[in-house]
Amino acid sequence: MKILSGIQPSGQLHIGNYFGMMQTMISHMESDELYVFIVDLHALTSVHDSAKLATGTLEAAADFLALGLDPDKCIFWVQSDVPEVCELTWILSTLAPMGLIERCHSYKDKVAKGVTASHGLFSYPVLMAADILLYQAEQVPVGKDQKQHLEVARDLAIKFNNHYGETFVVPEPAISETMATVPGIDGQKMSKSYGNTIPIFLEGKQLKKRVMAIETDATPVEEPKNPDSCNLYKIMQLFAAPARMQEIHDLYVNGGAAYGYLKLELLDLLNDKFGEARKKKQQYLCDPAMLRAILAKGAEKAREKAIVTLDVVRDRVGLKY
Ligand code: ADP
Ligand code: TRP
Repeated sequence: MKILSGIQPSGQLHIGNYFGMMQTMISHMESDELYVFIVDLHALTSVHDSAKLATGTLEAAADFLALGLDPDKCIFWVQSDVPEVCELTWILSTLAPMGLIERCHSYKDKVAKGVTASHGLFSYPVLMAADILLYQAEQVPVGKDQKQHLEVARDLAIKFNNHYGETFVVPEPAISETMATVPGIDGQKMSKSYGNTIPIFLEGKQLKKRVMAIETDATPVEEPKNPDSCNLYKIMQLFAAPARMQEIHDLYVNGGAAYGYLKLELLDLLNDKFGEARKKKQQYLCDPAMLRAILAKGAEKAREKAIVTLDVVRDRVGLKY
């Protein structure tokens, strides 16, 4: 199966990114044809500090590699290194109905959160559709927030195929319901743009501060609590072993769950889970030349695939005369 997904280098990657997408992608490495990329062109819709974007891109690459992505077992590249995606974006945009793009809530949400309303931000879903269709991806693992964008990609593939003849694979979303939306420390969706994240690679005091800041209610320790509405419980579930989670569940239901104590337990679990990856990330960051070489090799492989699709598309729409 051809599996593809991308991530924006627009800030520190967090446990929502990890459980929503990165972990799933890494798990497909042995069995599938895997495409993983860092979407710097998408990040340009919200990051206008050149140094921040460039460093963020290398950091996101180091994050993936440190977490176990093997560039020899997948195609791993930076979006802008395959410029063909921009041409396909334009072609698709000429078929994209305004109403379809206007309905996308991610644009409205981002503008409401203070991101400048630009044409690029508005047409973000068309670039994402081009990302997916250019590589003829069959399955796209993402968090629930990206579901609507995938529907746009599917609609555009179908529209193109109906009008110009069978060209694109119509991609399927792969959204794991349990991991669909990881809550942030304030209970909203965890997101780089909401400042409510637990970054995967945060350490020491800074990490402790974030974990201790997870919002909980004021129910006294001995009183019963509802685990389903507790933010801390939901995050804990991602890390604790099932047997321990059952004990924690019983403490919530019967009384005796102490939030402060559970937060310290969560801190230990985070350190256990990502301790090794943190060391590896530092090693990668010490060798940016090696990171660039890995990404350049990936871009070469990605481009070979992209050129094939774009050549057919150009022919279909009449750009080959
Ligand atoms: P952010 O909202 O932090 O900027 P991105 O938009 O870069 O995150 O998302 C990268 C990937 O991580 C996407 O597949 C997205 O669906 C997933 N993702 C982001 N936040 C979460 C979350 N809170 N829960 C589950 N998946 C998430
Ligand atoms: N829009 C996605 C996000 O913010 C990132 C993305 C860009 C993507 N292109 C993609 C995800 C293609 C999957 C496939 O998370």
